Amino acid sequence: MCGIVAGISEKNITPILLEGLKKLEYRGYDSSGISLLFDNEFSLLKETGKVKNLELSISKECSFFGKLGLAHTRWSTHGKVSKENAHPHNSKNFSIVHNGIIENYLGLKGDLIKKGYDFKSETDSEVILYILEESYKSSGSVFKAIQDVIQKTKGSYALGIIHRKNEEVVWSVKKDSPLVIGKTKDMSLMASDKNAIDSCTEEIYYLGDNEIAKLEKKGVTFFTSDGKILYKEGIKIDKNQEIVGKGGFEYFMEKEIYEQPEVIKNTLKNRIKKESIYLDELNRYKRELKKIENVEIISCGTSNHAALISKYWFENILNIPCEVIIASEYRYKTLLTRKNTLFITLSQSGETADTLSALKLINEKNKHLLSISVCNVEGSSIPRESDLTLLTNAGKEIGVASTKAFTSQLAVMLMLIYSIGREKRSLDKEMNSYIIKSLKKLPIKMEEFLNASTSLDSFIKTLENTTSALYIGRSEYGALAMEGALKLKEISYIHSESFYAGELKHGSLALIDENTPVIAIAPFNELFDKIYSNIEEILARNGKVLMLSDKHIISENLISIKMPECPEILKPICYSIPLQYLAFKTAKLKGTDIDKPRNLAKSVTVE
Ligand code: M6R
Repeated sequence: MCGIVAGISEKNITPILLEGLKKLEYRGYDSSGISLLFDNEFSLLKETGKVKNLELSISKECSFFGKLGLAHTRWSTHGKVSKENAHPHNSKNFSIVHNGIIENYLGLKGDLIKKGYDFKSETDSEVILYILEESYKSSGSVFKAIQDVIQKTKGSYALGIIHRKNEEVVWSVKKDSPLVIGKTKDMSLMASDKNAIDSCTEEIYYLGDNEIAKLEKKGVTFFTSDGKILYKEGIKIDKNQEIVGKGGFEYFMEKEIYEQPEVIKNTLKNRIKKESIYLDELNRYKRELKKIENVEIISCGTSNHAALISKYWFENILNIPCEVIIASEYRYKTLLTRKNTLFITLSQSGETADTLSALKLINEKNKHLLSISVCNVEGSSIPRESDLTLLTNAGKEIGVASTKAFTSQLAVMLMLIYSIGREKRSLDKEMNSYIIKSLKKLPIKMEEFLNASTSLDSFIKTLENTTSALYIGRSEYGALAMEGALKLKEISYIHSESFYAGELKHGSLALIDENTPVIAIAPFNELFDKIYSNIEEILARNGKVLMLSDKHIISENLISIKMPECPEILKPICYSIPLQYLAFKTAKLKGTDIDKPRNLAKSVTVE
C-alpha cells in the first residue's frame, strides 16, 4: 500500500529517499515519485511501475538536488495507474505526499473547482493541496493551513508537506494511517514504516492521530492539532536488527515457507519451559484471564483464517464461545459485546486499517474485558492500541502472501488458549500435557510436512492449466481450505473457492466437472468418514480430487497424497504447509510476480 519517505538533511537527500522507497517496495505499489526543493523551486519526477524506473529517470537528470524532499510509492485507490496520479502532487506553493483516503473528497473538490483550482489528477489526495493553498492565501501560515486540512477532511491520511518558500522545514500530520518520525544529529525523516528509515536514524517517534510534526535538520517539534507543543519520548533503534535477504532462495515467499520450522522454534522460545507455557506478557492480567466468558477475534485475510481455526480451539478446548468477525464488517455492525469478552486482534503487520479501526472502536465503547493483539511487528499501530501484545516472532515477512505469519499466529493462539485454561483451571492434566508435548514437536513435524509436500509436484501441472480450483475441508480444515484457496488465487491468479465440505451438495456441487480440480484437506480423524463421503460424491460426478491425508486411499480419479502422522491439535498448522507449497509451485510455473502479486499490497493501510 502507499508508502511515504520524506525528510531534511545537511546533504542531498535523494539517495536516502530512494533507499527508503526501495525498502517500502514490499508493501505493494504501482508507481512512485519524488519531489525536492532547492532555491525555492520544486523538482518533480514520477514514474509508473517499479522504483528502479524512477531511479533511472533521476540518474538522467543532471541537477536533481535538494536537502529536503518527499518521496512516495502509490497503490492506486482513486484514479488509474499513471504519472499524473502518482505522488508527490505539487501546486504553486506546496508539494505533498499522501497515504490514506479522503472520503469527502468529491464535495471538497467541487468547492475548490468553484474557487478556480485546476485539478491535474484523478486522486482524492489533490484536494489536500488546494486546501493548503486556499488557507495559506488568507493566513500566510503553513501551520494554520495544516490545521484546516485536519478540520475539513474526513477519512485517513499520513501526509508529508513542504512549502516552496521554506527550505528549512518538512511538515507531517496523520490520522488513521501509519507514520513514524526518525532523527539523527543532522537529519530528520518520516516514513510509513520504520523499515524505510531505521538504517539512517538513531531514534524514532510515533506520531499520534491529528498530531503535527515539524521536521528540521537539527530536530523535530511535535504539536497537538491546536498548536500546543507536545513532548514525545524517542525509541532507540536497534542497530543489530536482522537484514532480510532471500537466503539463497529465488523468492521471499519460498524462503518464508521453508524457514517455518526455525521460525516456530523462535515463536516457542522461552515460552515453553519444562512442562508448562509461560507467556510473561499475560502476568499483569491474571485477574482478567480468570474472568473471560466470551472471545471475539477480529482480523482480515490470512489472519482471519487463523482466527477461524482458533475459534474451534477456544470452543473445543476451553468451552468458551468465540466469535470471529472480519474487521471490515465489525465497524459497521451493531456491537453486541457480551459480558467479560476477551477482544483479540490478529495481524501480521499490525497496520491493517480495518483491524486497527475495529480495535479503536472497541476501545471507545470500552465494553470489553481485555484486548490482546497477536502481531508480528513490534511497535506497530495495533499493538500500541492494545492492552497487551503477544508477538509471533516470525521475523520480517516480505512476500505479500502470508505463510510463516499464519503458522506462528496459530502457535501463539495455542499458547494463549493454554494459558487462559490454566488461569481458569479449566484444562485437565491430560489436555495440559497433550498441548505442551504437541507444541514441542511442532518444528520437527513442520519439517516432515515440508518434505512430504514434494509429493505434490506431479499435481502442479494439472493446476497450472486449470481456470478454477475448489478447496474443501470440515471444521478447522474448512477454515484451512479458505486459506489454501486464498494462497492459490493471490499468487497464481487462478480462480479458487473453498467450502465446508458438507455444504457442497447444497449448491456448489454443480461446479464439479472433469476440469475443476478439488483439493480436499482430509486428515484421518473422527470426521474423515464424513469428508470421504463428500469426496465420493465428487468422484461420482467425474470430478478430480487431490486428497491430503494421513490415510492413503486408492480410487479412480483420486490422487491421494500421504501426509505424515501428527498430533491432531497440530494438524491445522502442519496441513497449511502443503497448501502453501502447492500455491507457490503453481505460481512459479505460471511465472507470476510471486512476492508482489498484481493489485495487492503487503500492508493494507486503507479501509
Ligand atoms: O497484516 P495483516 O495480517 O493484518 O494482513 C491481513 C491481510 O491483508 C493479509 O493476511 C492478506 O490476506 C495476505 N496477503 C494473505 O496472504
